[in-house]
Amino acid sequence: MRQWILVVLVALTMRPLHAQWKQGVVVAAEPAAAEAGLAMLRAGGNCVDAAVATAFALAVTWPAAGNLGGGGFLVARLGDGRSLAIDFREMAPRAATRGMYLDAKGEPVPELSLVGVLAAGTPGSVPGLCAALERLGTLKLAAVLAPAIRLAEEGFVVGPHGAAAINGSRKLLARSEESKRIFLAGGTEVAPDFQLRQPELAATLRRLAEHGLEEWQHGRTTELLLACMQKQGGIVTSEDLADYRVVEREVLRGRYREHEVLTMPPPSSGGVALLQMLGVLESKKLHEAGWSSIEGRHLIIESMRRAFADRARFLGDPDQSRIPLAELLAGERIAAMAASIGVEAARLDDAALPPPERDETTHLSVLDGMGGAASLTTTLNGSFGCGVTVPGAGFLLNNEMDDFSTAPGQPNMYGLVQGEANTVAPLRRPLSSMTPTILCRDGKAVFVTGSPGGPTIINTVLLSILARVDGGLDAAGVVKAPRFHHQWRPDHVSFEAEAFTAKERRALAARGHQFADKARRQGDCHVITRDPASGILEGAADPRGGGAARGF
Ligand code: DON
Repeated sequence: MRQWILVVLVALTMRPLHAQWKQGVVVAAEPAAAEAGLAMLRAGGNCVDAAVATAFALAVTWPAAGNLGGGGFLVARLGDGRSLAIDFREMAPRAATRGMYLDAKGEPVPELSLVGVLAAGTPGSVPGLCAALERLGTLKLAAVLAPAIRLAEEGFVVGPHGAAAINGSRKLLARSEESKRIFLAGGTEVAPDFQLRQPELAATLRRLAEHGLEEWQHGRTTELLLACMQKQGGIVTSEDLADYRVVEREVLRGRYREHEVLTMPPPSSGGVALLQMLGVLESKKLHEAGWSSIEGRHLIIESMRRAFADRARFLGDPDQSRIPLAELLAGERIAAMAASIGVEAARLDDAALPPPERDETTHLSVLDGMGGAASLTTTLNGSFGCGVTVPGAGFLLNNEMDDFSTAPGQPNMYGLVQGEANTVAPLRRPLSSMTPTILCRDGKAVFVTGSPGGPTIINTVLLSILARVDGGLDAAGVVKAPRFHHQWRPDHVSFEAEAFTAKERRALAARGHQFADKARRQGDCHVITRDPASGILEGAADPRGGGAARGF
């Protein structure tokens, strides 16, 4: 009897990770933030209103990655067919120099680009979210900020995932007095029932609601941010904040089988790599080999390897370096990439292992009742960014400068080796892997996807598309499917424990594939599907994280 009561209690308290709806769905890394977006849809707002409200709410409830002091990308396709990519990536401050993270001998000092305010690029999130709302949304800034203000003021219980994120970064947070006071309650760790109240952040959000972007560029928030920079040795200036540019970019378009793929152009490397891999896999007829067969996975790994090699050589900020976009996506190049794939894995040297992934970036997906879709990925880069909370303003700053090739040819914190197009230079945007993506079929958005995970983002998004289009999985099946990753260097496949059986690994090893020593978790992918025939929407949060799908 006791056992049955327990089963019923557990069933009643279990969060629905996915469900079906008709009018609109929001999926995000934290349930209260998904609800903030849903409230906008219920109030008649569109997918961008919901995405912006969710992103601001994540700055409160998922501070490891949701942010005001970071940046991100939004890919949107509205119900009326308009589509736009909004780039609010951080920019290198004017005073940034190529050698700023090197010592006197020219050797990289990794901590400089990771911890403390010198690691921060000029943040783009507030200008970006304001621009998205103004350009594509329908609601007022004060309305979309309201849930975030309430959550910051009243507080919320961090829960097991929130506590794990905070405790996992306790050393970093303890290095900043303000971060320690706010996120660790002045102590060394927090319990899942910790109620996080953020009055300074609430006040910042209120000022934003009242004064709009002016508050970020020439207001009290500007003063607090600049005071923090000056006191703690940062280089972001008032000109950097005032001149930060949100860039509206044309969505990068490609096809996979019967779907049109809308994704993020550079400075994301994700969209280019994704379209290259999908092109190669379509020409290799992956759907005939089977996406989960040994041959299929050999093809997938080999396409990852080649796309990441191009990433390292050619990609960077398109506004500062010449990116040969058309050439990289040209039919001949895709055909050549496909033709170079043989029965065996290609050989490449290098064995530097990337450090394990942490929970840093965050993705949210929205589909609205008007056929609109918004796919938004945002980040501070590392978990809790550079660790510094701006005193009096309550928000954390990023460490996005580490996404530059601070020492070309040497691996960064994700083990990524990158090239000249991505060196540090004033006002340049660091190359990113964030890959917010929407799939359309017969002119309608039918799949929204994206994930955190540094370079693994690109391959998590690829695998989610293959699981949906080739595997025919529903939303819950797509996010549950085990993942793997190859990034050219180091030359090995990293993988989740369930991704390969021992027999499958032997079969792939016999074809020359090398595997990482240990399995590791990959991504926190949130997807929404629309059934083209019935119009039914299904949203699913990744079971690896603490997110939720909310709809009506
Ligand atoms: O923009 C990028 O590619 C990185 N800053 C993203 C970092 C990330 O996804 C970390 N998440 N786990």
